[in-house]
This record gives sequence, structure tokens and C-alpha cells, in this order.
Amino acid sequence: MTDKLIIFDTTLRDGEQSPGASMTRDEKLRIARQLERLKVDVIEAGFAASSNGDFEAVRAIANAIKDSTVCSLSRANDRDIARAAEALKGAERARIHTFIATSPLHMEKKLRMTPDEVFEQAKQSVRFARNLVGDIEFSPEDGYRSEVDFLCRVIEAVIAEGATTINVPDTVGYAVPELYGEFIRTLRERIPNSDKAIWSVHCHNDLGMAVANSLAGVKIGGARQVECTINGLGERAGNCSLEEVVMAVKTRRDYFGLDVGVDAKHIVAASRMVSQTTGFVVQPNKAVVGANAFAHASGIHQDGVLKARDTYEIMRAEDVGWSANKIVLGKLSGRNAFKQRLQDLGVALDSETEINSAFARFKELADRKSEIFDEDILALVSDESVTSENEQYGFVSLSQRSETGEMPYASIVFTADGKEVHSQAEGNGPVDASLKAIEAHVKSGAEMVLYSVNAISGSTESQGEVTVRLQNSGRVVNGVGADPDIVVASAKAYLSALNKLQSKADRVAAQG
Ligand code: KIV
Ligand code: ZN
Repeated sequence: MTDKLIIFDTTLRDGEQSPGASMTRDEKLRIARQLERLKVDVIEAGFAASSNGDFEAVRAIANAIKDSTVCSLSRANDRDIARAAEALKGAERARIHTFIATSPLHMEKKLRMTPDEVFEQAKQSVRFARNLVGDIEFSPEDGYRSEVDFLCRVIEAVIAEGATTINVPDTVGYAVPELYGEFIRTLRERIPNSDKAIWSVHCHNDLGMAVANSLAGVKIGGARQVECTINGLGERAGNCSLEEVVMAVKTRRDYFGLDVGVDAKHIVAASRMVSQTTGFVVQPNKAVVGANAFAHASGIHQDGVLKARDTYEIMRAEDVGWSANKIVLGKLSGRNAFKQRLQDLGVALDSETEINSAFARFKELADRKSEIFDEDILALVSDESVTSENEQYGFVSLSQRSETGEMPYASIVFTADGKEVHSQAEGNGPVDASLKAIEAHVKSGAEMVLYSVNAISGSTESQGEVTVRLQNSGRVVNGVGADPDIVVASAKAYLSALNKLQSKADRVAAQG
């Protein structure tokens, strides 16, 4: 057993399975690079066999990432496994993560297979995978609700076939910490070859206990890998939150006694990037990455922190990437200062062209907004993720009119396939009018399932960050736009969502 806790990030796979959180290949690649900067040990990049889009995303990540192991999920069948191996070909270190359900309920109702058939398929899949890639993870899906004797039989067999990591998912978030920890311990004690594999936990958050369960799996059960996601993104109520689990183990090293390789100062930038890309806003009181996580409002607390910081703080904000100096730049700031600030924020853009384009947008923003905060910069940089060379629509300009007693009206100019389009419409409000003006030309027919506005830095001078979620023919996409003018931010978000709607390939459900 090692003293290191392996951090397996599944934001790009389990996280992406959150309804509405699906990401394009370029967005996934961008987040994968941030995860590598964060020094996570394993990046689960996707589920290669689920769609051509996800295959390409896994392949692009496998080719680009050098310091983390890149993993693809795969059902326990030869076709899926071969597809995962193909997508991972370019990886410096590759892992195939194959799974099959083992609970009586899942086997009987979902798979319609007998336990013996599941046993054989699990064994045969790991054997097949092991011939393609050396690093194999096996998950008995719904493991926590499986019968212990059967689970022991399956796990012993897959370890004998060469599985190097055994992950025990609490797929439906049913576990409670002590019982889950004991469950893992029992499996490890009863399975004769259990020491030949690293044990891993994968907990969903349906009862709000994903982090507690994962930590119990580590402390009581002896697991040495935690599967987690940035901001706790994941199916339904989400998955175990990476930032919480990492900071718990680091802050309470006295209790856990484990090393974690993650470089925590990139956590806030990663959280911000995932939130912007998916449109899943982080609640202000969220541990570690929420806007209030290090804010002290009461006089007694403020007084205490000023006298001795550790009176009310158990972690340092700057250690997880919050900056002490909040007002950072203005319109006189130069490119070098901008670049330095990006570095301090843990953001590395991939090319000089990207830096130049972000700097141009920074200058444009600084002309309209006297104080530029870290949050503005992070929003501006994340905007890169919605701008790809192939995008069909682009924002140019907008004017709108609203007056008490009058019907709001908007006139917008945008590009469609490189040509300028001028369009006007009336609506219930200026935002509605602007989006109707776009739709009058585009005629996407998409249904808007979410519209949200968030003030990036908390005052009326702040930029508005708008998320628009569109649904069309079973596909759901998010568009995000930021601007000091929320009507413009809304139009940008809508155009960005339309771009994604055009480019996204169909996906199959990850668990079938
Ligand atoms: O929750 C789950 O069971 C999963 C498996 C595919 C590991 O995500
Ligand atoms: Zn899961």
C-alpha cells in the first residue's frame, strides 16, 4: 500500500454526464490542460465508444497530455475496449477503465444477464483490455449495492486477469461513510489477491455525502485512489468534489497521513473554467471555490482574522488560487503585466495568438470598465473556449431600446458563415428582443431550457456572465457570454450556444 493518494479526475467523463454539461472537443482539451497543470494523476477524458465526438476528444487529450495518465471509460465488451485503446494510442500513459454492473437489480433489470454471465464477461473484458494496454481499471457498477460474495468472486477474477485498479462505485449515492469504508475494508480483507491492485472509491452525491464517503473509503477502507470532479460536477446531484477532497487530505494531513500530488494553487482557475464552460454556476458558500469561502462578514470574525489569521481560517485563500490583490489591472496595463497576471492566476494560454487575442479583448474591456478584477480576467480567458475557428456565428454589435410603456426593441449585427447579418425584433424585454432578432434569421427552432445571469465581480459595474442552455433534437448545449452590458452578454451566449448546436455529434448514454 502506498502513502500517496491518487487523484483520478472524471470531470470530462462523469462530470460531462450531468444533464446540460456536455462539452466540445476543444473545451475538453482546454480543461484537460488545466487538470494537467493541477497535476492530477489520472484524467478520465471521456468514453471513446460513446460517439465520434467523444472518441476525438479522448484522442486529442491523449495526444496533448504528457504528465497525467489519460483514461477512457469503456463498457465491458471488446468493441468498446478496442475503441478506447485506439483513442488512447498517442498517450504517454494510457488507462482503460472498463465497467459492468454487478448489483442484482442492475444485472436483472438493466443488463438482463445472469450473475454467471456477468462474471464471465467481466473476466473476458479485462483479459482483452490487458492485451491492449497495461494499466486497466475495473469497476463493478452499482458495486455498493452488490452482494458481497458475488462481488468478491468477480473482483478476484478480474485481478487475476490483470486489472491493476479496482474501483468500487457508489453509483446511486446510497452509502453512508462508516458503512462504505467498512465495505471497502471487507472486500480487501476477503479477496485473496486484493493486494495486487490499487483500490479506488467513486461516490455520487445524492445524499450529500460523496466527499465524506470517499474519505471514509480511504481512511477506513484503505483505498488509495479517489475519483472526483471539479466543482463536484457529475450525474444527478454530482460526484465527489476534487477541491474538497484534496484540501481535506492536505489540511488534515495529521489525520490522513497521505501525500497528494495536486498543485492546489490551480484549483480556483480550474473551478472557474469548468463553471464557465458548462454554465454550472458555483454556489457562493461552496467549500474552497465558492466566492464566500474565504470571506468574513461578521465583525467578530474580521477582527479575529486581522489579529491572527488562523482564528477563523484553516486554509490560506492564496494556496488554492484566490488572489489577495483583487483589483489587478486597468487600461494602462501592458501585455507583459497581463501575461504575468494570467500566470499568477494559473492560466496558461497555448499560443502567442491566444494571448494576443485575449489581450485585445482585455484592452477592449478596460476601455469600458475602469477596474479589472481577477474574475474579469478569468471570464475573458474562458471566453476563448467558446471561440473556435470553425464557429458559424459571431457577435458584431447591438443596439436596443427599452422605455416604460413601450415595447422593447433590439437591432443586432452578427456574422453567419462569414457574412454580416442585420436583424431586428421586438420582445418582452431587451434580452428577449435581442435573442428573437438572432432567431428570426437563424431559425434554429431550439428550445431554451436555461437562462441565467451572474455578476462576475459583485457590483453593478461588474461584467454580467450569461449562460444560455439550448435543446434541439435531443441535444443539449450551453453557451456562455460575458460583457459589462448584459444584453450583449446574452446575445454572445446565445450565438455561442448556436455554434455548439451546429457542431456537436450525437452521443450515446454512458451507462447502458
Ligand atoms: O457511477 C458509476 O458507477 C460510474 C461507473 C461507470 C464507474 O460512473
Ligand atoms: Zn459515476
